[in-house]
This record gives sequence, structure tokens and C-alpha cells, in this order.
Amino acid sequence: MSEIFDGSFTQQEPIPEEGIAAAMNVLRHGRLHRYNVDVGETSETALLELEFARMMDAKYCLAVASGGYAMATALRTVGVKPGDKVLSNAFTLAPVPGAIASLGAQPVFVDVTEDLTIDLDDLDQKLDQANVLLLSHMRGHICDMDRLMAMCDAAGVVVIEDCAHTMGAKWGDTWSGRFGVFGCYSCQTYKHMNSGEGGLLISDNPELMAKAIMLSGSYMMYGRHDAGPPAEVFDQIRFETPNISGRMDNLRAAILRPQLDILMDQAARWNERYCVLEDGLKNTPGLTVIDRPNQEHYVASSFQFLLLDWSPVHIRDVITRCLNRGVELKWFGADDPVAFTSKYDSWRYADPAPMPKTDRILQSVMDMRLPLTFSLEDCAMIARIIRAEVSAVWQGHS
Ligand SMILES: Cc1ncc(COP(=O)(O)O)c(C=O)c1O
Repeated sequence: MSEIFDGSFTQQEPIPEEGIAAAMNVLRHGRLHRYNVDVGETSETALLELEFARMMDAKYCLAVASGGYAMATALRTVGVKPGDKVLSNAFTLAPVPGAIASLGAQPVFVDVTEDLTIDLDDLDQKLDQANVLLLSHMRGHICDMDRLMAMCDAAGVVVIEDCAHTMGAKWGDTWSGRFGVFGCYSCQTYKHMNSGEGGLLISDNPELMAKAIMLSGSYMMYGRHDAGPPAEVFDQIRFETPNISGRMDNLRAAILRPQLDILMDQAARWNERYCVLEDGLKNTPGLTVIDRPNQEHYVASSFQFLLLDWSPVHIRDVITRCLNRGVELKWFGADDPVAFTSKYDSWRYADPAPMPKTDRILQSVMDMRLPLTFSLEDCAMIARIIRAEVSAVWQGHS
């Protein structure tokens, strides 16, 4: 009898009891808007900003409505205008080119490598096409950030990091999100902290952060941003910056603060699960596990592997066989994009040129969520199932 996995790939852990209690407190006092504070009170949102800035060793932090909003705001503050080009990853998810398009700007896509990171050689070729790079650490894979920053600094290209999948991760000794002028995070349900929707922005640049605060809809209450720049930085910016409301509210912040306390413990639990899968899948003929360099300290809330140069028919066979045994693999190679997995050539508003190198990788990437509701034994079973089904199809066609 073959094993069948019956866990849910979309079931996250519950919000910690402390977060539920804090949320109930906000609901009971009714001051959900971040600027609606009692005398002497600091809002949950302002506290979350202070705590996240402290943890990331950043001067400033702003909590917003979503990761997509965080990226669009970062792009606006650095001066991206309609018609401008912005470099970004070809392998990422729709909110990333969407943030660029929301400003009327045009994404210029950069290839992906077999390590699932941005192709630095291709980036090098394209650095003269734009002044800004929106770098997506897609699925938590971090490229050689030392090389990337040296290249972008030399070319005068401003880097904004999309850390939707790297909250709590580092390259060397530096947190992901601390290399670029902004680090942008998402707190949507499947991310490392879950408030349903939500986002965070961090930066050390006072002018850019003052603009971001005004953009987010601070009216003239920017003084209530304890993790923001001093009042004098807003002197001119407050008259010159439009309000494009996208604030976070106190209910979400209340849910998030206790999750920040346990972020690195959760990271360790995700990585334990990742290692079990990696061990179980290593040396499977036809299957490539992703190489992870020593400097990369990832937070593996998902798992990817490659079926390099397999035909779509055989890949579909693997996906169906795994699904029949309860293991949901997502594929970026389908002609018609489904669920979360759209890809560069389906973002037609960006008028993308064909990218054969990227197509080869997208055709081969198998992607899987790794919720913390899975036990280590669950992960071992999932690895056994994938290994068996990949091997069966491989033996049938090799
Ligand atoms: C790679 C990546 N960047 C950014 C985002 C944007 O996050 P949000 O859904 O909070 O707008 C997502 C969301 O799934 C994402 O996967």
C-alpha cells in the first residue's frame, strides 16, 4: 500500500494566544485607527514599527496595508515616474511587477539562475536600462548580495529589496532588507508573520522614510511615528507629498507584535522541516535540489526543487501522481497560469521579451509550501512520496 499524505498545504498555525488577547483588547477599546490614541498612549502600530526597526537594526520603520503597497511606496519615494523602467526578477510573483506597473512604470525582467536567484550576469548587461532595481528574494533564495550591491552601486542603480519571503533571513551577517535603501515585507497569511494582510518598510534614509510616511496617509500626524525621522525632516516633504492611503491598523499590529517575538524560533522550525525534505530528496535521479551557499541564512517557509530539462508531459505526470498521494506541487511552467503561479510572460502589460534561459528554469521548478503545521515526520513522508513518484516517471522515460 503506498503512503498517502493527508495534511493541508495551506493550513497555517493559529495566531499566538498573546496576539489574540492583544487583538481583543484593541477590539474592546475600539481605537483601531493608528492615530486614534488615548493621552500618553503609543498605538500598537507605532510599537510594532519600533520593535521591527530595532530587530532589523534599521533607523526607521513604517507599517502599511500590504507588501505590494510597501514596494510601490518605496518605488515612489525614490522618484520612479510613469514611463520609467525598473529592473526586477523574471522569477517572482505578480505583486512585484504589479507594484512597478502601479506607478505607470515598466518592468525590465532579469533572468533567473538554477539557484533560483537573479542572474547577476544578465543584470550586469541590463544595468544601463534603469536607475532602480526592485530585487525580489523570491521563495527565500538570496543571491550574492555583496556582488549585487557592488554592481548596482558602481552603476548608480538604487536597490529596493522585496523581502516578502526573507523576513528573518540574512546574507552573511546582514539581515535581508538592509542592503537596499528600503526593505519591503509582507505580513499576508502565508508569510513569516501573519495578519491576513499587511506590510512593513524599513530604511535608514530620513528623507525617503518621511516621504513614505506622508504617502502612507499620515496627514499631519507624522509626529506619532516613533520609528520615523525627526519632525524637521518633514518641513517641506509634508507639503510636497501626496496622501495615497495604505496605513496599517492597530488590530493587525496587535496580532503581529507577539509573532515578532517568536520569529527566529519559527525560522528554526521552518528550517528543520526544510532539511528533512532536502535530505529525503538528495540524490534522486533526475531531480536537482537547490544549492544554498554558506553565506545564505534562509528562512525556509517553502521548498523548491528542479526537474531540469524534463518534458512538460512527464512533469505533469509527476504532479498528478504526487497529488493523488496528497502532495501538492506548484509548477511555474504551465502554459495557462493558475492560482499564485503566474509568470513573466503572462504579465503582458509589461510587454516582456522572450527569456529562453528563464523559461528553462520556470519549466523545471517545482514549488511547495511548508506550513509549520507539518511535523518533521510529515516532511519525511512528503519526501518519500516525491522521491518515489519522480523516480517512477524518470525510470519510465529515461
Ligand atoms: C514575492 C512576493 N513579493 C511581494 C508580495 C506582496 O505581498 P502582499 O500580498 O502583502 O501584497 C508577495 C505576496 O505574495 C510575494 O509573493
